[in-house]
Amino acid sequence: MTVLLSGRWSAAEGERWARLLHEAMPEEQWLLQPPRDAAAAAAVEVAVVANPEPGALSGLPNLRLIQSLWAGVDRLLQDPTLPPEVPVARMVDPAMNEAMVHTALWAVLSLHRQFFELQAQQREALWQAPPQRRAAECAVLVLGLGELGGRTAQTLAGLGFAVHGWSRRPSELDGVRLWQGEAGLAPALAAAEIVINLLPLTPQTRGFFDTARLAQIRPGACLVNLARGAHVDEAALLAALDRGQLRHAVLDVFQQEPLPPEHAFWRHPRVTVLPHCAAQTDPRTAVPQVRANLAALRAGQPLMHRVDRGQGY
Ligand code: NAP
Ligand code: GLV
Repeated sequence: MTVLLSGRWSAAEGERWARLLHEAMPEEQWLLQPPRDAAAAAAVEVAVVANPEPGALSGLPNLRLIQSLWAGVDRLLQDPTLPPEVPVARMVDPAMNEAMVHTALWAVLSLHRQFFELQAQQREALWQAPPQRRAAECAVLVLGLGELGGRTAQTLAGLGFAVHGWSRRPSELDGVRLWQGEAGLAPALAAAEIVINLLPLTPQTRGFFDTARLAQIRPGACLVNLARGAHVDEAALLAALDRGQLRHAVLDVFQQEPLPPEHAFWRHPRVTVLPHCAAQTDPRTAVPQVRANLAALRAGQPLMHRVDRGQGY
Protein backbone atom coordinates (compact mmCIF):
# COMPACT_ATOMS: atom_id res chain seq x y z
CA MET A 1 0.00 0.00 0.00
CA THR A 2 1.11 3.57 -0.51
CA VAL A 3 1.05 5.45 2.77
CA LEU A 4 1.27 9.25 2.93
CA LEU A 5 2.99 10.59 6.04
CA SER A 6 1.92 14.12 6.88
CA GLY A 7 2.40 16.21 10.01
CA ARG A 8 2.92 19.66 11.40
CA TRP A 9 6.33 18.83 12.83
CA SER A 10 9.99 19.79 12.58
CA ALA A 11 12.02 18.23 9.76
CA ALA A 12 13.92 16.13 12.31
CA GLU A 13 10.71 14.87 13.91
CA GLY A 14 9.21 14.00 10.52
CA GLU A 15 12.37 12.18 9.47
CA ARG A 16 12.42 10.21 12.73
CA TRP A 17 8.82 9.04 12.29
CA ALA A 18 9.46 8.20 8.62
CA ARG A 19 12.49 6.09 9.54
CA LEU A 20 10.73 4.20 12.35
CA LEU A 21 7.57 3.54 10.32
CA HIS A 22 9.58 2.43 7.29
CA GLU A 23 11.76 0.11 9.40
CA ALA A 24 8.66 -1.49 10.98
CA MET A 25 6.70 -1.72 7.70
CA PRO A 26 9.20 -2.01 4.83
CA GLU A 27 6.51 -3.67 2.67
CA GLU A 28 4.59 -0.36 2.40
CA GLN A 29 5.49 2.49 0.03
CA TRP A 30 6.06 5.55 2.26
CA LEU A 31 5.35 8.91 0.69
CA LEU A 32 6.94 11.69 2.71
CA GLN A 33 5.90 14.64 0.53
CA PRO A 34 2.48 15.57 -0.91
CA PRO A 35 1.83 13.54 -4.10
CA ARG A 36 3.30 15.32 -7.13
CA ASP A 37 0.57 14.46 -9.65
CA ALA A 38 -2.83 12.81 -10.04
CA ALA A 39 -1.34 9.33 -10.51
CA ALA A 40 0.68 9.62 -7.28
CA ALA A 41 -2.41 10.95 -5.44
CA ALA A 42 -4.51 8.02 -6.74
CA ALA A 43 -1.98 5.53 -5.35
CA VAL A 44 -2.38 6.72 -1.74
CA GLU A 45 -4.55 4.34 0.32
CA VAL A 46 -3.54 5.34 3.86
CA ALA A 47 -2.50 8.60 5.53
CA VAL A 48 -0.56 8.49 8.80
CA VAL A 49 -0.83 11.96 10.25
CA ALA A 50 0.17 14.22 13.11
CA ASN A 51 -2.12 17.26 12.86
CA PRO A 52 -1.49 17.76 9.15
CA GLU A 53 -2.00 21.12 7.47
CA PRO A 54 -5.64 21.69 6.46
CA GLY A 55 -6.14 20.41 2.91
CA ALA A 56 -3.26 17.91 3.13
CA LEU A 57 -5.65 14.95 2.77
CA SER A 58 -7.87 16.31 0.03
CA GLY A 59 -7.57 15.07 -3.57
CA LEU A 60 -6.70 11.48 -2.60
CA PRO A 61 -9.48 9.53 -4.38
CA ASN A 62 -8.49 6.07 -3.09
CA LEU A 63 -7.81 6.95 0.56
CA ARG A 64 -9.16 4.17 2.84
CA LEU A 65 -7.77 5.07 6.30
CA ILE A 66 -6.57 8.16 8.16
CA GLN A 67 -4.44 7.02 11.11
CA SER A 68 -3.63 9.76 13.61
CA LEU A 69 -0.42 9.65 15.66
CA TRP A 70 -2.18 11.92 18.19
CA ALA A 71 -4.77 10.77 20.71
CA GLY A 72 -6.85 13.93 20.31
CA VAL A 73 -8.21 14.37 16.77
CA ASP A 74 -9.93 17.75 17.25
CA ARG A 75 -7.58 19.64 14.91
CA LEU A 76 -7.72 16.93 12.29
CA LEU A 77 -11.54 16.83 12.31
CA GLN A 78 -11.73 20.63 12.04
CA ASP A 79 -10.26 20.46 8.51
CA PRO A 80 -13.30 21.10 6.26
CA THR A 81 -11.58 19.31 3.38
CA LEU A 82 -11.15 16.05 5.31
CA PRO A 83 -12.83 13.35 3.15
CA PRO A 84 -16.07 12.62 5.02
CA GLU A 85 -16.39 8.90 4.24
CA VAL A 86 -12.85 7.84 5.13
CA PRO A 87 -12.47 6.20 8.57
CA VAL A 88 -10.27 8.02 11.08
CA ALA A 89 -8.41 6.04 13.76
CA ARG A 90 -6.76 7.79 16.68
CA MET A 91 -3.67 6.85 18.65
CA VAL A 92 -4.11 4.83 21.82
CA ASP A 93 -0.58 4.31 23.05
CA PRO A 94 0.24 2.45 26.30
CA ALA A 95 3.28 4.66 26.94
CA MET A 96 1.18 7.81 26.47
CA ASN A 97 -1.45 6.45 28.86
CA GLU A 98 1.23 5.78 31.47
CA ALA A 99 2.73 9.26 31.09
CA MET A 100 -0.70 10.92 31.48
CA VAL A 101 -1.38 9.00 34.69
CA HIS A 102 2.02 10.13 36.02
CA THR A 103 1.37 13.79 35.14
CA ALA A 104 -2.08 13.72 36.75
CA LEU A 105 -0.65 12.01 39.82
CA TRP A 106 2.10 14.63 40.17
CA ALA A 107 -0.47 17.42 39.91
CA VAL A 108 -2.84 15.87 42.44
CA LEU A 109 -0.08 15.12 44.95
CA SER A 110 1.40 18.61 44.53
CA LEU A 111 -2.00 20.25 45.07
CA HIS A 112 -3.14 17.93 47.87
CA ARG A 113 0.13 18.21 49.85
CA GLN A 114 0.61 21.92 48.96
CA PHE A 115 3.99 21.28 47.33
CA PHE A 116 3.58 24.26 44.95
CA GLU A 117 3.14 26.55 47.98
CA LEU A 118 6.19 24.94 49.62
CA GLN A 119 8.27 25.71 46.50
CA ALA A 120 7.20 29.35 46.81
CA GLN A 121 8.07 29.27 50.53
CA GLN A 122 11.58 28.03 49.70
CA ARG A 123 12.15 31.09 47.50
CA GLU A 124 11.34 33.21 50.63
CA ALA A 125 13.43 30.98 52.99
CA LEU A 126 10.20 30.39 54.92
CA TRP A 127 10.10 27.32 57.21
CA GLN A 128 6.41 26.50 57.67
CA ALA A 129 4.83 23.03 57.43
CA PRO A 130 1.24 22.81 56.17
CA PRO A 131 -1.28 20.56 57.93
CA GLN A 132 -1.07 16.96 56.72
CA ARG A 133 -4.30 15.51 55.34
CA ARG A 134 -5.19 12.00 54.28
CA ALA A 135 -5.86 11.16 50.61
CA ALA A 136 -9.37 10.02 51.55
CA GLU A 137 -10.10 13.58 52.72
CA CYS A 138 -9.41 14.92 49.21
CA ALA A 139 -12.14 14.56 46.56
CA VAL A 140 -10.81 14.50 42.98
CA LEU A 141 -13.11 14.72 39.95
CA VAL A 142 -11.92 13.36 36.60
CA LEU A 143 -13.87 14.73 33.62
CA GLY A 144 -13.76 12.18 30.78
CA LEU A 145 -13.30 8.52 31.63
CA GLY A 146 -11.78 7.19 28.42
CA GLU A 147 -8.31 5.77 27.88
CA LEU A 148 -6.62 8.54 29.85
CA GLY A 149 -9.28 9.67 32.32
CA GLY A 150 -10.35 6.13 33.23
CA ARG A 151 -6.80 5.07 34.07
CA THR A 152 -6.14 8.28 35.97
CA ALA A 153 -9.31 7.87 38.06
CA GLN A 154 -8.50 4.26 38.91
CA THR A 155 -4.90 5.02 39.88
CA LEU A 156 -5.99 7.85 42.18
CA ALA A 157 -8.71 5.66 43.70
CA GLY A 158 -6.07 2.98 44.31
CA LEU A 159 -4.03 5.53 46.28
CA GLY A 160 -7.02 6.24 48.52
CA PHE A 161 -8.29 9.53 47.03
CA ALA A 162 -12.06 10.05 47.03
CA VAL A 163 -12.44 9.89 43.25
CA HIS A 164 -15.44 11.03 41.24
CA GLY A 165 -15.68 10.55 37.48
CA TRP A 166 -17.89 12.18 34.84
CA SER A 167 -18.59 10.92 31.33
CA ARG A 168 -21.25 11.14 28.66
CA ARG A 169 -22.50 7.57 28.94
CA PRO A 170 -22.75 5.34 32.02
CA SER A 171 -19.50 3.55 32.84
CA GLU A 172 -18.12 1.22 35.50
CA LEU A 173 -14.90 1.89 37.37
CA ASP A 174 -14.07 0.23 40.69
CA GLY A 175 -13.74 2.64 43.57
CA VAL A 176 -14.90 5.68 41.54
CA ARG A 177 -18.18 7.52 42.16
CA LEU A 178 -19.64 7.96 38.70
CA TRP A 179 -21.71 10.81 37.28
CA GLN A 180 -23.19 11.22 33.82
CA GLY A 181 -24.44 13.96 31.54
CA GLU A 182 -25.55 17.47 32.36
CA ALA A 183 -27.55 16.35 35.42
CA GLY A 184 -24.49 14.78 37.02
CA LEU A 185 -22.13 17.65 36.35
CA ALA A 186 -23.17 20.25 38.92
CA PRO A 187 -23.03 17.89 41.95
CA ALA A 188 -19.72 16.44 40.73
CA LEU A 189 -18.14 19.91 40.35
CA ALA A 190 -19.48 20.99 43.73
CA ALA A 191 -18.00 17.90 45.43
CA ALA A 192 -14.44 18.10 44.13
CA GLU A 193 -11.39 19.80 45.60
CA ILE A 194 -9.33 19.00 42.49
CA VAL A 195 -10.92 18.88 39.00
CA ILE A 196 -8.90 17.13 36.26
CA ASN A 197 -9.98 17.73 32.65
CA LEU A 198 -9.42 14.80 30.31
CA LEU A 199 -12.32 15.40 27.93
CA PRO A 200 -11.84 15.39 24.16
CA LEU A 201 -12.34 18.73 22.42
CA THR A 202 -15.66 18.50 20.53
CA PRO A 203 -18.36 21.01 19.63
CA GLN A 204 -20.04 20.02 22.94
CA THR A 205 -16.94 20.54 25.12
CA ARG A 206 -15.36 23.64 23.46
CA GLY A 207 -15.38 26.49 26.02
CA PHE A 208 -16.47 24.02 28.73
CA PHE A 209 -14.86 26.03 31.55
CA ASP A 210 -16.55 29.40 31.06
CA THR A 211 -17.45 31.84 33.85
CA ALA A 212 -20.66 30.00 34.75
CA ARG A 213 -19.04 26.55 34.86
CA LEU A 214 -16.05 27.78 36.86
CA ALA A 215 -18.50 29.23 39.38
CA GLN A 216 -19.99 25.73 39.84
CA ILE A 217 -16.65 24.41 41.08
CA ARG A 218 -16.37 24.23 44.84
CA PRO A 219 -14.78 27.47 46.16
CA GLY A 220 -11.05 27.10 46.80
CA ALA A 221 -10.74 24.06 44.52
CA CYS A 222 -8.01 23.52 41.89
CA LEU A 223 -8.22 22.92 38.13
CA VAL A 224 -5.85 20.63 36.24
CA ASN A 225 -6.26 20.93 32.46
CA LEU A 226 -4.43 18.15 30.62
CA ALA A 227 -6.75 17.95 27.59
CA ARG A 228 -7.05 20.99 25.29
CA GLY A 229 -6.65 24.74 25.76
CA ALA A 230 -9.92 25.49 23.98
CA HIS A 231 -11.82 23.79 26.81
CA VAL A 232 -11.03 26.84 28.94
CA ASP A 233 -12.03 30.50 28.70
CA GLU A 234 -8.63 31.79 29.83
CA ALA A 235 -9.85 35.24 30.92
CA ALA A 236 -12.59 33.61 33.00
CA LEU A 237 -10.04 31.30 34.59
CA LEU A 238 -7.73 34.21 35.49
CA ALA A 239 -10.69 36.05 37.02
CA ALA A 240 -11.69 32.96 39.03
CA LEU A 241 -8.13 32.62 40.34
CA ASP A 242 -7.87 36.31 41.17
CA ARG A 243 -11.09 36.40 43.15
CA GLY A 244 -10.09 33.24 45.06
CA GLN A 245 -12.80 31.03 43.53
CA LEU A 246 -9.96 28.71 42.51
CA ARG A 247 -6.83 28.09 44.61
CA HIS A 248 -4.50 26.92 41.83
CA ALA A 249 -4.50 25.87 38.18
CA VAL A 250 -2.12 23.37 36.58
CA LEU A 251 -2.25 23.91 32.80
CA ASP A 252 -0.56 21.80 30.14
CA VAL A 253 -2.57 23.10 27.18
CA PHE A 254 -3.53 26.58 26.00
CA GLN A 255 -5.65 28.49 23.49
CA GLN A 256 -2.41 29.47 21.77
CA GLU A 257 0.61 27.16 21.79
CA PRO A 258 3.41 27.88 22.43
CA LEU A 259 1.98 30.07 25.21
CA PRO A 260 3.02 33.66 24.25
CA PRO A 261 5.74 35.10 26.52
CA GLU A 262 3.48 38.00 27.57
CA HIS A 263 0.63 35.72 28.72
CA ALA A 264 -0.46 36.28 32.34
CA PHE A 265 -0.35 32.55 33.08
CA TRP A 266 3.46 32.50 32.94
CA ARG A 267 3.88 34.78 35.95
CA HIS A 268 0.68 34.11 37.90
CA PRO A 269 1.66 32.90 41.40
CA ARG A 270 -1.11 30.32 41.44
CA VAL A 271 -0.70 28.90 37.95
CA THR A 272 1.68 26.10 37.03
CA VAL A 273 2.46 25.97 33.31
CA LEU A 274 3.60 22.89 31.40
CA PRO A 275 4.52 23.06 27.67
CA HIS A 276 1.94 20.52 26.37
CA CYS A 277 4.02 17.59 27.57
CA ALA A 278 1.59 15.78 29.88
CA ALA A 279 1.68 12.72 27.62
CA GLN A 280 3.32 12.35 24.25
CA THR A 281 3.05 9.60 21.67
CA ASP A 282 5.98 7.24 22.09
CA PRO A 283 7.06 5.82 18.70
CA ARG A 284 8.28 2.61 20.37
CA THR A 285 4.73 1.72 21.37
CA ALA A 286 2.82 3.72 18.75
CA VAL A 287 4.42 2.26 15.62
CA PRO A 288 3.09 -1.25 16.45
CA GLN A 289 -0.42 0.28 16.75
CA VAL A 290 -0.08 1.76 13.26
CA ARG A 291 1.19 -1.56 11.91
CA ALA A 292 -1.77 -3.41 13.51
CA ASN A 293 -4.29 -1.05 11.91
CA LEU A 294 -2.67 -1.32 8.47
CA ALA A 295 -2.83 -5.11 8.82
CA ALA A 296 -6.51 -4.89 9.85
CA LEU A 297 -7.25 -2.70 6.83
CA ARG A 298 -5.48 -5.10 4.46
CA ALA A 299 -7.32 -8.10 5.96
CA GLY A 300 -10.70 -6.36 5.94
CA GLN A 301 -10.86 -6.63 9.76
CA PRO A 302 -12.34 -3.94 12.06
CA LEU A 303 -9.98 -1.04 12.73
CA MET A 304 -8.75 -0.29 16.23
CA HIS A 305 -9.68 3.00 17.94
CA ARG A 306 -11.90 4.26 15.18
CA VAL A 307 -13.15 7.79 15.81
CA ASP A 308 -16.89 8.45 15.85
CA ARG A 309 -16.79 11.43 13.50
CA GLY A 310 -20.34 12.42 14.46
CA GLN A 311 -19.37 12.71 18.14
CA GLY A 312 -15.94 14.21 17.39
CA TYR A 313 -13.87 11.70 19.43
P1 NAP B 1 -11.29 8.95 24.96
O1 NAP B 1 -10.76 7.57 25.26
O2 NAP B 1 -11.99 9.16 23.69
O3 NAP B 1 -12.24 9.35 26.18
C1 NAP B 1 -13.05 10.48 26.17
C2 NAP B 1 -13.93 10.50 27.42
O4 NAP B 1 -14.60 11.76 27.48
C3 NAP B 1 -15.00 9.42 27.42
O5 NAP B 1 -15.18 8.92 28.72
C4 NAP B 1 -16.24 10.18 26.97
O6 NAP B 1 -17.47 9.69 27.47
C5 NAP B 1 -16.00 11.53 27.62
N1 NAP B 1 -16.79 12.57 26.93
C6 NAP B 1 -16.71 12.97 25.64
N2 NAP B 1 -17.58 13.96 25.38
C7 NAP B 1 -18.24 14.17 26.54
C8 NAP B 1 -19.27 15.06 26.92
N3 NAP B 1 -19.83 15.91 26.04
N4 NAP B 1 -19.72 15.01 28.18
C9 NAP B 1 -19.19 14.13 29.07
N5 NAP B 1 -18.20 13.25 28.78
C10 NAP B 1 -17.73 13.28 27.52
O7 NAP B 1 -10.12 10.02 25.03
P2 NAP B 1 -8.69 9.90 25.75
O8 NAP B 1 -7.77 9.02 24.98
O9 NAP B 1 -8.90 9.59 27.18
O10 NAP B 1 -8.13 11.39 25.56
C11 NAP B 1 -8.83 12.52 26.06
C12 NAP B 1 -8.20 13.78 25.52
O11 NAP B 1 -6.95 14.01 26.16
C13 NAP B 1 -7.83 13.78 24.04
O12 NAP B 1 -8.96 14.01 23.23
C14 NAP B 1 -6.82 14.88 23.95
O13 NAP B 1 -7.47 16.13 23.70
C15 NAP B 1 -6.22 14.93 25.35
N6 NAP B 1 -4.79 14.57 25.36
C16 NAP B 1 -3.91 15.45 25.87
C17 NAP B 1 -2.57 15.12 25.93
C18 NAP B 1 -1.56 16.05 26.53
O14 NAP B 1 -0.36 15.80 26.46
N7 NAP B 1 -1.97 17.11 27.17
C19 NAP B 1 -2.13 13.87 25.46
C20 NAP B 1 -3.07 13.01 24.93
C21 NAP B 1 -4.41 13.36 24.88
P3 NAP B 1 -18.01 8.24 27.05
O15 NAP B 1 -17.17 7.26 27.82
O16 NAP B 1 -19.40 8.28 27.54
O17 NAP B 1 -17.83 8.14 25.57
C1 GLV C 1 -1.68 15.14 22.52
O1 GLV C 1 -2.12 16.12 22.99
C2 GLV C 1 -2.45 14.14 21.80
O2 GLV C 1 -3.65 14.37 21.59
O3 GLV C 1 -1.88 13.10 21.41
